[in-house]
Amino acid sequence: MAREESARRIERDIETLAGPDYTLSKEAIRRYAYTPVYRNTLAYFTKELEELGFEVEQDPVGTLVARNRPKGEAVFGIGSHCDSNRNGGRYDGTMGVVTALEVCRLNSELGYGLPLQLISWLEEEGSGFGQMLLGSRIMAQRVTEEDLRERFRAIDDGRSFWEHAEEAGYQPERWRECAHVIDDLTGWIEMHIEQARVLQDTGNRIGLVTAIAGYVHADVRVHGRGDHAGATPMDFRLDPTLSLAETIVELERLAREAGKGTVGTVGEIEVDPGIINAIASRVRFSLDIRGPDDEAYGGVAREIAAFAEEAAGRRGMRAEYAERQTLPATPMDGRILDALEAAARATGEPYMRMHSGAAHDTMCVADRIPCAMVFVPCKDGISHHPAEDASPADAALAAEIILEAIRALS
Ligand code: GLV
Ligand code: MN
Ligand code: MN
Repeated sequence: MAREESARRIERDIETLAGPDYTLSKEAIRRYAYTPVYRNTLAYFTKELEELGFEVEQDPVGTLVARNRPKGEAVFGIGSHCDSNRNGGRYDGTMGVVTALEVCRLNSELGYGLPLQLISWLEEEGSGFGQMLLGSRIMAQRVTEEDLRERFRAIDDGRSFWEHAEEAGYQPERWRECAHVIDDLTGWIEMHIEQARVLQDTGNRIGLVTAIAGYVHADVRVHGRGDHAGATPMDFRLDPTLSLAETIVELERLAREAGKGTVGTVGEIEVDPGIINAIASRVRFSLDIRGPDDEAYGGVAREIAAFAEEAAGRRGMRAEYAERQTLPATPMDGRILDALEAAARATGEPYMRMHSGAAHDTMCVADRIPCAMVFVPCKDGISHHPAEDASPADAALAAEIILEAIRALS
């Protein structure tokens, strides 16, 4: 009964946050830091949490923090992120914050009164500045002032993160203080959609995450020579798109060869000038290389960097590899996992332990606090796409399991 009511509330929250005030695009969910629609999303959560008696604030760069106890008192952390992929769906991140909100509601309704702190991290997706997990990396002090002032630039207008944060009314010069947001946390649980189809295909409603895959994000730039596409004979070309093509195929080969869950993707390709009748003078492409085994995917990153430089050299061109960021695979806390498993078992619903192939903010705080994650299925595994779909009933089940686990741990 309580679970049905939870599912209804979760569905309402998700529906609301898919409305025109909360996304920049009609075709997809698109919201990222410092946009009006992102501001509206934070305002929505703020209002809902204040109604539950939470004190809500934002850290110096805009991560939302809500707590039902004064600072300095121990609290258990729950939450996720509510920014979206640029071509995102309704559920990635947002369903985790909505479910955390539902945990807070149930905590009141059931009279548990557990001390809780909800966090919704800024810029998990990197949609604003091309930097994944930005809010949690700032909190974990895994960035430099130089990164924030100069290196991290908005995808839309090339201006710095710092400038955007200031313009939005935040205080980036206080970024080091973000570390204190998690000072009082005794533990942390993030709920998220699975973003793959393991749960669906095995008939499980809940995934208990044992570890989160690590990753390398990098860019390769190949410098060729722009020329006429008709007049330039094949022997006289320095065409950087050929190095791009060779590197993409080699990345597939290396990732397959490495095995152990290693995956590699070229997701961004920029061809300059990108005109049908001109040979490109330059290309830039991104590399996203991940896996649960640091040695395996790290080796692929090293090898593909060397390959790209060599492949360009073979054709008389030059390639540069530059790493954007890297995070090691992150194991989750055994004690929290056991508490979640006991709570999952008590519901009688099917669950399993599994690893996360996607990255999550939880990776950035796991060395300071005991952490765990709970997954719910997403339809056909589709994610980072407008067709993303997940069930409010599964999220309601997750909310119940998380609340009971926190109660058992407290
Ligand atoms: C996060 O959105 C990821 O790409 O893993
Ligand atoms: Mn996410
Ligand atoms: Mn995502």
